[in-house]
Amino acid sequence: MTNTTDPIVEEIIRLKKEKNALILAHNYQRDEVQAIADFTGDSLELSRKAAGIDCDVIVFCGVHFMAESAAILSPKKTVLLPEPDAGCPMADMVQVSSERRVWKVFPGYKEQPSFVFPHTYTLRDIKAQYPGVPVVAYVNTTAEVKAESDICCTSANVVRVIESLSSDTVICIPDRNLSMWAQKNTDKRVIAWDGFCHVHDRVTIDDVDAARLAHPGALFMAHPECRIEVLNAADHVTSTSGMLRYAAGSSAREFIIGTELGLMYRLRKENPGKVFHPLRNDMICPNMKKTTLNSVLRALKEMKSIISVSEDVRVKAKKALDAMLEVK
Ligand code: 13P
Ligand code: SF4
Repeated sequence: MTNTTDPIVEEIIRLKKEKNALILAHNYQRDEVQAIADFTGDSLELSRKAAGIDCDVIVFCGVHFMAESAAILSPKKTVLLPEPDAGCPMADMVQVSSERRVWKVFPGYKEQPSFVFPHTYTLRDIKAQYPGVPVVAYVNTTAEVKAESDICCTSANVVRVIESLSSDTVICIPDRNLSMWAQKNTDKRVIAWDGFCHVHDRVTIDDVDAARLAHPGALFMAHPECRIEVLNAADHVTSTSGMLRYAAGSSAREFIIGTELGLMYRLRKENPGKVFHPLRNDMICPNMKKTTLNSVLRALKEMKSIISVSEDVRVKAKKALDAMLEVK
């Protein structure tokens, strides 16, 4: 619950009105930041919100690619990222053409993820290797990467997005775990980039066994950024907001949660009679936690941490985001 007697919160509310601003917060944000947001959600919900929202200023409490997506979808609005250094390391694991970074790709067809090409790859390299194969870019990518891709996806709609394409082979970037999950759930061939989220990829099957032993009878939900063996051991695999819906609709009382700890805030607030155990206590995204109430206040006061995208890149990246938003 928002503490409106807190002077920082009062000032944020006053400035929000004065600037006709709306605050969007991802489900991994700090509790107090989620509490002052006009809307909290997963990446898909936040993209839809950013596309349809009626305001002059969007304060995006999340990481860089999320604010960039809002700027791509709402070019006439001022999009503020309260902590401009809040990035997503996974998004930076794929570059359009830079030669500086070394990453690997592997074709993740069915259960063969270990088949790795040990080379320096860029997105353009893999596109050249598989000409005509559409690129499905997880929203956790830079605007430049989205601009080079055919369609975006989130953890909530990756399978539907892949199924919506006419091609029977797709290239999925950058999350190998999400790609493996998609591969398990589609008959199409998924060629996967070897990126990962350091928060979810650190979880092992031993963690799952330990949590199940400690909480027998609890249902285990996992985010598709976890490794495939962890996902295979889960009772339900879904995005952050998918977990909120599943917990609310389930007759179960106890859950083990395999995602970033920020989601606990809404799970507990929206389900007071239910119990939620984190799968691991260190599933914390340092970038998501950079944003504080003070950074939101500073962003609204100074109006300096503006995220913008060059028009050429924006138009191309918007095509990929719009294509995703059209998938039912
Ligand atoms: P979702 O909220 O879409 O499940 O995304 C998780 C995530 O890691 C965002 O950075
Ligand atoms: Fe990136 Fe993982 Fe943090 Fe999400 S939780 S922003 S995917 S590092």
